[in-house]
Amino acid sequence: MALMGAAMELQEMSMGTAFAVGAPAVALGGLCLFLINGYVIEQRRRRSPLPPLPEVPGLPVIGNLLQLKEKKPHMTFARWAKTYGPIYSIKTGSNTIVVLNNNDVAKEAMVTRFSSISTRKLTKALSILTFNKCMVATSDYDDFHKTVKRHILTSVLGPNAQKRHRCHRDTLIANIVKDFHAHVKDYGLQPVNFRNIFESELFGLAMKEAIGSDVESIYMEELGKLSRHEIFTVLVKDPMEGAIDVDWRDFFPYLKWIPNRTFEMKIEKMDFRRQAVMKALIMEQRKRVASGEEKNSYFDYLLTEGKSLTEKQIAMLLWEVIIETSDTTLVTSEWAMYELAKNPKMQDRLYQEIHGVCGSDKITEEKLCQLPFLSAVFHETLRKYSPAPVIPLRFAHEDTELGGYFVPAGSEIVINIYGCNMDENQWETPKEWNPERFLDKKYDQNDMHKTMAFGGGRRMCAGSLQAMLIACTSIGRLVQEFEWRLKDGEEEDVDIVGLTTQKLHPMHAIIRLRN
Ligand code: HEM
Repeated sequence: MALMGAAMELQEMSMGTAFAVGAPAVALGGLCLFLINGYVIEQRRRRSPLPPLPEVPGLPVIGNLLQLKEKKPHMTFARWAKTYGPIYSIKTGSNTIVVLNNNDVAKEAMVTRFSSISTRKLTKALSILTFNKCMVATSDYDDFHKTVKRHILTSVLGPNAQKRHRCHRDTLIANIVKDFHAHVKDYGLQPVNFRNIFESELFGLAMKEAIGSDVESIYMEELGKLSRHEIFTVLVKDPMEGAIDVDWRDFFPYLKWIPNRTFEMKIEKMDFRRQAVMKALIMEQRKRVASGEEKNSYFDYLLTEGKSLTEKQIAMLLWEVIIETSDTTLVTSEWAMYELAKNPKMQDRLYQEIHGVCGSDKITEEKLCQLPFLSAVFHETLRKYSPAPVIPLRFAHEDTELGGYFVPAGSEIVINIYGCNMDENQWETPKEWNPERFLDKKYDQNDMHKTMAFGGGRRMCAGSLQAMLIACTSIGRLVQEFEWRLKDGEEEDVDIVGLTTQKLHPMHAIIRLRN
C-alpha cells in the first residue's frame, strides 16, 4: 500500500489528455455520480444511531493526499493518531479510508466485524500484478480463497508440509553458515553484507518449495537467456517495486477512462516478463514430470490436486510462494541481526541462552521451544520493524461499525500494525528495541502475538510458521558461530524503503569466529 508519490503525480498529470479526447461530459457525469453517492452515504449515516468517525482535515477534491507525500504513510498515520485518536477517517481523492491504530479496533476489524470487512481493495498496479486477485493473500474471502489457501497450507506452509520441506531449510542454514565462514577466511575483519548471502539462499528455498529445484539460468524466446540473478529481479525485485507504484486514477475512479499509458506500460512490461519466466520454468517442470521424475513441490501437488485451475492461475500460485518466501523473512532476519550487532549485551544474553541449551551442539529447530529469549528477539523485531507495517487494504462491503463509530459500505480499511506497535498505552517505550519486554513478567508465549505482525483472524498469515523456523534458526546459529558488530557509521543508517520496511541500505557487519 503506498499513497506516496500520488501527490507529486497529481501535480504532474496532464489534464490536457482528458480534454483533448473531448470528454468533459463523462468527467462531469462521473463527478455527479460521486457526489450523489456521498449524499446517499450521509443520509444512511444520519439514520444510524452511531456517531461519524473523526476526520483528518484535508483539501477539497484531493482530500489528504498532499499530507501523505512522504513515503512512509504508516508513520504519518501513527502521528495523526496522537491528535485524532486510534480510529479516524481520511480522504484520498474520492476514497474514504478508515485508519485503525490500536489493538482493540484492529482486532475488532479482523475478527468481530470480519464478515463485513473480508474483501480486499487493490490498486491498479496490484490488480495487474496479482492477475486480478488470483493469489491467496490478495483474493477476496470466497470459495477460490478457501480452495487455494487449503492448497498452499497442505503442500507448502502447514505444519506437515513444513516437516516435508525440512531438508531445504537445513540446507539453507548450512549454506548461509558456510558463506559467512568463507567470508571470515577470505576477508577477515572486512564488513560483510548480510543481505547478499541471506537473500540468495532464501530465493533458492523458495524455488525448491515452488517448483522442486533451484535455478541457475533459463532460456525463453521472449527474453532470451536469463541468469539466476536476473530471474530474481524479474520474479521478486521488480514486482516488489511495482506493487507500490501509484496510478493517480486509483484515487479518482470517476476519471479512470483517462489514459495513463506510462504507468500502464511499466506495470504491463513487468507482468509480461514475470509471466514469460514463470511459463518457461513451468515448461521445464512439465518435461521433468513427463519423464517420470516426481518431486516434493507445490507444482507437483497442483498438477494432481488443482485440476480445475488454469495454466495462468497455477503460474500465479507458484509465483506467490516465490515472492512471499523471498522477502519478509529476510527483512525480519536482517533487522534482528542489525539490532543484535548494535546491542552486545542482548547478543551475549542470546549466546548464553543457546549455549546453556545446546552446549557444543549446533542449534536445530527442535531446540527452538526451549529458547524463550530467541523467540523474544524474533517477536520484538517484528514489533519494531513489522515487515507489513500496514495490512493489505481491506474493504467494507456493507455498512458496519468500528470502535463505536459508523463505517459506511465502500470504505477502505487500513490496519496500521506499525501504529498499534508504537501505541504508548500498550507498550512501554515503544521506540526502543528491547526483547526483554516479553520476558519481564511471567513468560507467556501468547504475549508474542500481541504485535499482530502476522495479521489476525481468518486471514492471518499462512507462512508464519515457516518465517519463524527460518528466522529463529538462522539468527540463533549465526550468533552461536560468530560475534557480530556493526561497521562504523552503520548505527545511524536505519531508514526503511519499499512495501515491506526493508532496511534502506543493506546491513554491513564485522564478524568474528567464536571460540
Ligand atoms: C516475517 C514474515 C512474515 C510476515 C510479518 C507476514 C505478514 C503477513 C500479513 C500481515 C498478512 C496479512 C494478514 C491479514 O490480512 O490479516 C499475511 C498474509 C499472508 N502471508 Fe505472510 N508474512 C510473513 C511471511 C510469510 C511467508 C514466508 C509466506 C510464505 C509463502 C507468507 C504467506 C502469506 C499468505 C499466503 C498470506 C495470505 C493469508 C490469507 O489471506 O488467508 N507469509 N502475511
